[in-house]
Amino acid sequence: MTSNMVLEIARWLQDPEIKQALSTDTYAKLFGKLYGLDFESNELSSDLFAFPGEVSRQERMYLYHFFAAIWSGEKDVIEIGPFLGATTRAIAFGMLENRNRRPDRKLYTHDRFGSYYKREALLQTLKPLIDNGTFSGAAHQRLEGLAELPDFMEIFEEIHSNTPYSSILSAHKSVLPGAREEMPTTEYLFRTDASASYDVVFIDGCKSWYGTKHFMQEVVKNTEPGAYYIFQDFGWRSCFWLPVFWAQLSDFFEVISFVESTYAFRLVKPLDAGTIEERFPDQPSDFGRENFNLLFPKLILHAADIGDVRGIAYATMQHASALAYVGAKDEALAILNNLEQQAISAHYRDKISQAKESPTYLPDGTPVKLQ
Ligand SMILES: C[S@@+](CC[C@H](N)C(=O)[O-])C[C@H]1O[C@@H](n2cnc3c(N)ncnc32)[C@H](O)[C@@H]1O
Repeated sequence: MTSNMVLEIARWLQDPEIKQALSTDTYAKLFGKLYGLDFESNELSSDLFAFPGEVSRQERMYLYHFFAAIWSGEKDVIEIGPFLGATTRAIAFGMLENRNRRPDRKLYTHDRFGSYYKREALLQTLKPLIDNGTFSGAAHQRLEGLAELPDFMEIFEEIHSNTPYSSILSAHKSVLPGAREEMPTTEYLFRTDASASYDVVFIDGCKSWYGTKHFMQEVVKNTEPGAYYIFQDFGWRSCFWLPVFWAQLSDFFEVISFVESTYAFRLVKPLDAGTIEERFPDQPSDFGRENFNLLFPKLILHAADIGDVRGIAYATMQHASALAYVGAKDEALAILNNLEQQAISAHYRDKISQAKESPTYLPDGTPVKLQ
C-alpha cells in the first residue's frame, strides 16, 4: 500500500494555505525535494532501483511518489524515451499504488529502441539484470550476436514481462524526427491516436530541438488543461531546447516541482499545435544567438533568485550549448571558462569540463565540439 507519508505530503502540498504562503518557485522546489526523498520500505526501494538507468535515485523516488499520490488515476500516461525502463518502472510502480487509479488505465511508452548504446556497452549496462537472472538465457545469447548498435525493444519487453505492472504497460517503437525535412522518410514516426487521452506526459526522449517540437505538437492534441508535463532533461546541460520551448510557451505551463534536472509543469489552458508552430521555430538558428543571449541570463538570474545553485550552473551551461549550436563557439567557451572560475561551480567542475569538450550534440548524436 502507498505509504501514509506520501499521502500526508500530498495533502500538505495541496493545502491552499501552504500554497498561498509560499511563492510558486519555493513551492516547486519543496515539492521536488520532499518527493525525491527515499522514505519507502527497503523492499520497494530495491525494486525501484533494480533496473539500470540514466536517472538519479531522487528522480526515481520523485516519479514513484508523483504517480502514487498526485496523478489523478483517471486517464492514461505516456512516456517518451524509457531506454531500459528505469523511469518506466518508477512510474508504473507508482501508478499501481495510486488509490484512485482506474483499473483500465495504462502507461504507453515510446522509444526508437535502437541507435543508442553499442552492443558491448549495452551488455555491460544489463549486467546486474543478467547476474540476477532477470535477463537470461536465450535473449541474452541473442544479444551477443546482434549488430553493433542493437535494437533493444525485445530486451525491454523481456525484462518488463512478469513484473507486477506488466498488464498496464504498453511499449511502442516510435521515432522523433531530428528535422522537419526528415518527416516524410522517418520510419515509425511518432504519432498519437486521436482517441488517446493522457493526464501525465513524461519526456525523456526529446533529444533534439525539432524532435521536441514534433512530440509536443502531437501530444498536446491528447491533453487538456490540468494535465502534467514532466521533462526529465529540462535542467540538463546539453538540452537547451527544453527551457527555450517552455519560455516560448510559459503562459501555458505552470511550474509545479523540480528535482535535479527533472521539472514538472501543469498545463493551465488549452494548447494546440498551431500555437507551438507560431512560437517555436523549426531550428535553433531561427531563434538566434541574440534571443539566446536575452533568455538564458534571465533563467540564470531566476535560479539565483530562488537559491538554486545547481540551476545557476546548468542554465549557464545550457546558454553555452545554445550558442555553440548556432556557431558562436568562442562566446560559448568564454561563458564556460568564466563559470569554471566561480565558487558556485565547485560541485560541477567535471560537468563544466565535459561541456568545454562538447556542450551539446546534433540530432543524429554528433557532438558539437568547441575547439
Ligand atoms: C537518456 S535515455 C532515457 C533514460 C531512461 N528514461 C532511463 O530511465 O534510464 C534517452 C532515450 O531516448 C531515446 N531516443 C533518443 N532519440 C530518440 C528519437 N529521436 N526518437 C525516439 N526515441 C529517442 C533513446 O533511445 C533512449 O532510450
